[in-house]
Amino acid sequence: MRLVVLVSGAGTNLQALLDAATDPAYGATVVAVGADRDGIEALARAEQAGVPTFVLRVRDFPDRVAWDQALTKAVAEHQPDLVVSAGFMKLVGKDFLAEFGGRFVNTHPALSPSFPGVRGAADALDYGVKVTGCTLFFVDEGVDTGPIIAQRAVAVADGDTAETLHERIKVAERAMLVETIGAMARGGFTIEGRRVAVGG
Ligand code: GAR
Repeated sequence: MRLVVLVSGAGTNLQALLDAATDPAYGATVVAVGADRDGIEALARAEQAGVPTFVLRVRDFPDRVAWDQALTKAVAEHQPDLVVSAGFMKLVGKDFLAEFGGRFVNTHPALSPSFPGVRGAADALDYGVKVTGCTLFFVDEGVDTGPIIAQRAVAVADGDTAETLHERIKVAERAMLVETIGAMARGGFTIEGRRVAVGG
């Protein structure tokens, strides 16, 4: 299975996929990494692994639609079976979803449908929940609302800060991502309404 991974930051989830894919038995390989900004660790990780990269900054385009069309084209050039948003901090538009809907997944650091958006870990902590976690889902037009593929629970500890909680969530998130993408690659998947089934 050919993966294009979209990133905006540290790229530890990308690294987990790159590491898993060094084993041919894993069933998936990262064929390109795309970003919405320069100079991030995630791009350095891709280059280190010898994976082609591309950067498309929203501000270099006349509007969001033009950026979305350029992103769609750049990703399509690498002929992915699955596109993985791994800490990509942008919402894609209609064109991208028209091309990649049903094969575009995102990982989010909270248990959906709670705490959507860019502050998943911090919002859960502020709310006072005792259990939070991470969610892998198919992206739809909403914010973190698409059909759920996998979730992992993470307990909130006394004294957690948003940073310590997010780091612990990310440990669970990397394992969830690697295991689930591998299972999707090797066993296939189906989406029926909101129900996702992975494997044979
Ligand atoms: C991950 O925790 C991911 O879920 C989150 O950004 C982090 C990226 O970490 N994404 C979002 O919050 C999107 N709403 P990484 O760059 O080390 O993989």
